[in-house]
Amino acid sequence: MRMSLETTASTEVLGFDVVAYPFRRYVEDIFRCDELEEIHLHRNDLMPTLPLIFETESKTPFHEVFYRSVNREPSRFRRLYRSFVAQVVSELVGEPFVFQYQPSFRIHLPEAKAVHKWHSDGDADHGHPAGEINFILPVTGCHGTAAVWAESEPGRGDYAPMELDIDQFVRFDGNRCRHGNQPNTTGRTRISLDFRILPRRFYREQCAGSDGTSITAGKKFRLGSYYATFEEN
Ligand SMILES: [Fe+2]
Repeated sequence: MRMSLETTASTEVLGFDVVAYPFRRYVEDIFRCDELEEIHLHRNDLMPTLPLIFETESKTPFHEVFYRSVNREPSRFRRLYRSFVAQVVSELVGEPFVFQYQPSFRIHLPEAKAVHKWHSDGDADHGHPAGEINFILPVTGCHGTAAVWAESEPGRGDYAPMELDIDQFVRFDGNRCRHGNQPNTTGRTRISLDFRILPRRFYREQCAGSDGTSITAGKKFRLGSYYATFEEN
């Protein structure tokens, strides 16, 4: 299947093989918890002590555990992520691309939000390069107010949840469509991973020599920083 920029506005939910790509098992292992939807009960020791806000949403003890594990060398997670991108995402994109060096970890706890700002990644606050394609890979189910909500086309404002089961992932135009979170009233925690790819043609046009920086990862939108290729380790 081949995808061009013209088609990226449509949101598409796709299936994947959870046995071949055991992201959930990995996250269960690192948190020593096999009921991730109730991790807020089982790992109370990792719960944030203050209500989350934009400045702290990516810095909870849960994030520390996740990133410490994925950055350990050799990284079991890196092999898993890169094989998913190489085999599953490549098939969809159908042209050379660079990809986010590692996914962003999101935890949407009951009565809280994982991401506080309604935004599009390409807006002035976030500054992601045009042409990026967003993917969300759920680790738990993503339903109702525990899902990421997004508009269906840029500027349309028709926010709806991108509902996903754990054997599905979604491709959407988060670069141009606004998206964000509702307060999670489901009583269950959502954990998901999200990442972006950028076709090489857009990378060449915008990123080589640019100083644009990801506000979440603190990395420049360049190869060797925010973006990676399969040639790297
Ligand atoms: Fe975003």
